[in-house]
Amino acid sequence: MSEASRTLAAEVARRRTFAIISHPDAGKTTLTEKLLLYGGAIHLAGSVKTRRNASRHTTSDWMELERQRGISITTSVLQFPYAGHHVNLLDTPGHNDFSEDTYRTLAAADAAVMLIDSAKGVEPQTIKLFEVCRLRQIPIVTFMNKLDRAGQDPLDLMDEIERILGIPCHPVTWPIGSGPDFQGVYDRWGKTLLKYERGDSAKGERVAPVQVASLDDAAFVESLGAAAHATLMEELELLESGHAFHQATFLAGGVTPVFFGSAVNDFGVEPFLKRFLELAPAPLPRKTTTGRVDPLDPSFSGFVFKIQANMDPAHRDRVAFLRIVSGKFTRGMEVVNPRSGRRLRLSKPLQFLAQERTLVEEAWAGDILGLWDAGNLRIGDSLAEGPGVEFEGIPRFSPEFFNRVVMLDPAKRKQLKKGLDQLSEEGAVQVFHDPDRMERDPVLGAVGVLQFEVIQHRLRSEYGAEISYARLPFTLARWVEGEEFDRRRFDDPPSVACLVDLEGRPLALFQSKWHLERAERENPKLRFIAAVQPGRAKATA
Ligand code: G4P
Repeated sequence: MSEASRTLAAEVARRRTFAIISHPDAGKTTLTEKLLLYGGAIHLAGSVKTRRNASRHTTSDWMELERQRGISITTSVLQFPYAGHHVNLLDTPGHNDFSEDTYRTLAAADAAVMLIDSAKGVEPQTIKLFEVCRLRQIPIVTFMNKLDRAGQDPLDLMDEIERILGIPCHPVTWPIGSGPDFQGVYDRWGKTLLKYERGDSAKGERVAPVQVASLDDAAFVESLGAAAHATLMEELELLESGHAFHQATFLAGGVTPVFFGSAVNDFGVEPFLKRFLELAPAPLPRKTTTGRVDPLDPSFSGFVFKIQANMDPAHRDRVAFLRIVSGKFTRGMEVVNPRSGRRLRLSKPLQFLAQERTLVEEAWAGDILGLWDAGNLRIGDSLAEGPGVEFEGIPRFSPEFFNRVVMLDPAKRKQLKKGLDQLSEEGAVQVFHDPDRMERDPVLGAVGVLQFEVIQHRLRSEYGAEISYARLPFTLARWVEGEEFDRRRFDDPPSVACLVDLEGRPLALFQSKWHLERAERENPKLRFIAAVQPGRAKATA
């Protein structure tokens, strides 16, 4: 083995690239901040808050912020070193900046942390993000947060995850008491007790886990109190008959290890991080249109999973986020984009450290690069040193919000069409048409409402087309496939409608889940598809 391949193997082996999936307010920002503190990437608690506050602004404030700062500050990739690992944490925008980018980011992750507020359990956004992870079958580790507050019974919480998400749970740690009676967690794998200490831990002083020689040990019983000890024993026994943990099943997304803690009190976070880094996989091979590429392949390759447009009209440039799939990146290297056949030199790539961006000299499979782009790159594009590497595209996810475009100046129809074509290609929004009206009055579909505001702003500033919207009453959609597809069956306003996307694929829109389920029942020979590969004639996922 050459020196270069030894270095590549070592660099890949220590990389972990993951995202946190959660519903707003579950504690993602707080958890992220603790992780960054451990990694030494930030030194002050509260540094991440500015980002959180930014994402909580009203939409118009957000636009103002974006304009002032140029590129989005609310979405990024954070990296930090921890215990010999090189960690890449992908930030999934979650508040009112929830968009298709949130889903696409998961395409670049090798694993996910599912963060759950233990008082609230599984919430809508958790479900959506979980489903995207499931499409890719990536491993998911669960962190039950806010144990310092009265929450749901831990057995009920696990039951809820299994029932709603359909993934078996295997608790690695188990809470002792909850809310005011919360005493800490027992680590079933390490046979240790992590005591929760009120007050001190809130200041960030972490307690060390204590080895428990035997669960019947008198000192252990005494430290918990007889009643809490008895409950713990009973629950631990119950868990013995629960789901076993197998690494291979976990890696295929078939079981989730569960940890309990409190992010804001820095309780249980570090033991969780250590275990997570042991369990989560190093960068994995990725499928291409003809085979697959291994991260240890010395030839550099990667794909674009997100494009962040600059909201400032004076600066049209944007940042394309590239996930490196194989090999080593060195600044200034030349790559080819098989879609356009163009060669480009990656001379000013960025990496992200907390709120700073730094020029990167070298990077490895698993890392994320930010590339300045003048409009040549698209979501899903592959970039590789050698020719012929084309990764499978990033799916397009079915929208949940629909607005018909109302043109305010009909003379600008051409500009509008050009703008929508380009913005749709960029992945900023999805564009649909009513086949009877074709080019007229397009319908925009998005997974987050902020996308509409962004499009309206960009159409005005970049294309000179002034629009407003008429909201359509649908809440979900599916691409429909099958020999027996007949559009008229999906023409039942206001509860069901049928449009086509720019590639001509029919999309059925439903007012509610009930309407979708009815359509599925009544059309057993048709397939209703939630995510499709762009650029292909047929829906795939
Ligand atoms: P998000 O990014 O997922 O939206 O959640 P974020 O971290 O902003 O946390 C949401 C709220 O939950 C914050 O309170 C945060 O302090 C609190 N929180 C996070 N982890 C825990 C925990 O382990 N226990 C308890 N009790 N609370 C937790 P806030 O009042 O909205 O903000 P702040 O004023 O505390 O910053």
